Amino acid sequence: MKENQMTKRITYLLISGLITLTLLAAVALAEGEAAPEKKEEVTHDFVGAKKCKICHKEEFASWEQTSHAKAWTVLKPEEQKNEECIGCHSTGTTAKDVFLEGVQCEACHGAGADYKKKKIMKDTEKAMAAGLVIPDSTLCLTCHNDKSPNFEGFDFKKYMANPKGMHVIPTAEEAKPEAATEKKES
Ligand code: HEC
Ligand code: HEC
Ligand code: HEC
Ligand code: HEC
Repeated sequence: MKENQMTKRITYLLISGLITLTLLAAVALAEGEAAPEKKEEVTHDFVGAKKCKICHKEEFASWEQTSHAKAWTVLKPEEQKNEECIGCHSTGTTAKDVFLEGVQCEACHGAGADYKKKKIMKDTEKAMAAGLVIPDSTLCLTCHNDKSPNFEGFDFKKYMANPKGMHVIPTAEEAKPEAATEKKES
């Protein structure tokens, strides 16, 4: 009987101890890591490649020739209705409900509604805070993987150098209208 009470008491102490620890941990989490995780949930609207074209004519003209730009049209009409095919062969839907066919700029660079203003675009850090993505192999692998029925393997270096898929990356000077003017003057 006595021993039983003792066990109860120990159990009680253990449980209240655990509750205290859990509460402390929750407070620590709330102050620490929990907050930034929430920030990542911010989503941005897609605007479509034509909006990027206004300022990035060279990248656009080059992208238009790539298989990414044509990724929607390789699907047969019935495949264009198949949820299992749409994801990797399209980009998303704009705020005005326009469906963006093929692998457009924003499939790789992030939805652009909040970074496309010149003032923000000029400052890489601000642009990235507003959703711009400078893509690396991790991004490519979200589509170039064995869930694709036509997967042919993926070698980042090889694929980056393949003009069938990648738009030209102009040199920094070509990309900057200001820099180009300076060059002419000197
Ligand atoms: C109003 C003009 C404008 C529009 C519209 C625009 N950009 Fe830009 N973008 C710029 C400027 C200016 C830069 C900076 C160029 C530089 O300094 O080399 C830039 C830079 C970039 C960079 C390079 C970032 C870096 O620092 O390496 C990417 C990628 C990019 N833009 C993608 C896009 C995409 C995708 C869209 C469409 C959603 C878009 N831009 C729309 C003007 C624009
Ligand atoms: C996980 C992403 C993903 C899914 C899901 C996906 N695809 Fe693709 N698809 C790709 C990629 C990436 C390629 C480019 C092939 C490569 O280089 O690996 C491609 C290429 C293709 C091609 C061109 C083939 C060629 O060799 O030129 C066709 C056609 C195609 N896919 C049809 C489909 C159909 C139909 C479905 C749905 C049943 C589908 N895809 C689902 C990513 C995907
Ligand atoms: C398949 C993915 C993909 C698509 C689609 C794509 N890009 Fe890119 N883009 C990249 C990669 C990768 C880089 C190089 C990033 C780096 O600097 O490491 C890049 C670089 C850029 C740059 C920076 C060039 C510089 O001078 O540094 C601009 C600007 C840009 N892209 C604009 C665009 C625009 C506009 C479109 C649509 C017309 C587009 N991209 C479509 C993957 C993509
Ligand atoms: C949103 C999905 C998606 C992303 C992200 C993506 N791709 Fe693709 N890629 C495709 C699809 C789909 C095709 C096939 C399109 C077609 O055949 O018309 C393709 C085709 C290609 C091709 C042409 C292959 C060939 O043999 O013709 C290259 C090269 C390529 N991608 C490189 C890249 C690189 C590099 C990245 C990352 C910077 C990337 N892709 C990101 C979906 C994607």
